[in-house]
Amino acid sequence: MKTAFITGITGQDGSHLADLLIAKGYEVHGVIRRSSAFNTGRIMHIYQDVHQEDVRLHLHYGDLTDGDPLMRLLDKIQPDEIYNLGAQSHVRISFDAPLYTADVAALGTLRMLEALRSLGADHVVRFYQASSSEMFGNSKETPQNENTPFRPTSPYACAKVFAFHQACQYREAYGIHASNGILFNHEGPRRGETFVTRKITRGLARIMDGKDQKLFLGNIDAKRDWGYVADYVEAMWLMLQQDEPDDYVIATGKMYSVRDFLDRAFSLVGRDWRDFVEIDPRYFRPSDVAELCGDASKARTKLGWAPSTDFDELVRIMVAADLEAENLDPTKYGL
Ligand code: NAP
Ligand code: GDD
Repeated sequence: MKTAFITGITGQDGSHLADLLIAKGYEVHGVIRRSSAFNTGRIMHIYQDVHQEDVRLHLHYGDLTDGDPLMRLLDKIQPDEIYNLGAQSHVRISFDAPLYTADVAALGTLRMLEALRSLGADHVVRFYQASSSEMFGNSKETPQNENTPFRPTSPYACAKVFAFHQACQYREAYGIHASNGILFNHEGPRRGETFVTRKITRGLARIMDGKDQKLFLGNIDAKRDWGYVADYVEAMWLMLQQDEPDDYVIATGKMYSVRDFLDRAFSLVGRDWRDFVEIDPRYFRPSDVAELCGDASKARTKLGWAPSTDFDELVRIMVAADLEAENLDPTKYGL
């Protein structure tokens, strides 16, 4: 049985990756942070309907800002694969908390790599680094691929560029099997409520339920390449099954604006978003990435990876899930 170690297991991607690895027969260890509120809601279902002796999910308290305990954990668990997904992942918030964002996303990655290196050469571990399309910033090239230069435009993106290069450097200097997944935006019903797609589908469901009258958004002209999260965690796993470590862009190759997302989501329930959406300057960023669109040809050729879910289906899945969460019946709208 293989053993995996996941930082960020309580987040959107970490929870889907845990589902995938458990289904593949792995024993999964995850780092969780102490929080004043319940923060394991996305992974609790893994414990349901399972006998105690069958549980292959183990949670450990830790933090990417605190390196020594991470080192001790890796030494104790001796994982075969490490997925470093933990981060302060909100781009807008990284402008308010730049040093903390860098501490977790940039130095936190370095702490993980150092912890991995301390395991010694006799223990072969494969390392996945959660790199981001945000690193391309306002790129001069469209679509972006593995050779496109990075032009980071946020503290978050700068931290991720540091982490990307650090993973490459450990690969070159120490022969570590470290791969970067340069993932474009990916979404689903477990997406954090303050990212734009989920904010829209959750806001729409609350409007339909009569709880809210308005939805306040920022730059709705921004364009992103949005995919479905379950496809993207499969790509992470595929990267670590390759003999050689490498870096891969993971994307759908199709770009839509926030306006397009609004159009699609509201029309599914027979509403016009213009009647409900207001622009609030609080949600604008000091500098924003106008558009991102990825070219995942390398992943398609080398990993045999392809996205399974298109934009319309993604929006449908998210709207239906949020209606259900508000105890509204999605079938009433044919969803
Ligand atoms: P997310 O939902 O925000 O989850 C982030 C995870 O990191 C959570 O488990 C969070 O714990 C944990 N975390 C935050 N600060 C930490 C710290 N100081 N120490 C340890 N763990 C910490 O993000 P996501 O969407 O799943 O994304 C996963 C990773 O992929 C992130 O690194 C993100 O930057 C990157 N990424 C995401 C996308 C995307 O579209 N989703 C695209 C490219 C790259 P709590 O639950 O306790 O907050
Ligand atoms: N969050 C948010 N809230 N974004 C808004 C809003 C709003 O009210 N209104 C408009 N937007 C715009 C943002 O300005 C941005 O241009 C776009 O919608 C997408 O914003 P987010 O959903 O917050 O995602 P992101 O692209 O900034 O970052 C996500 O994707 C990255 C990959 O490119 C995050 O998951 C990052 O962690 C990830 O690396």
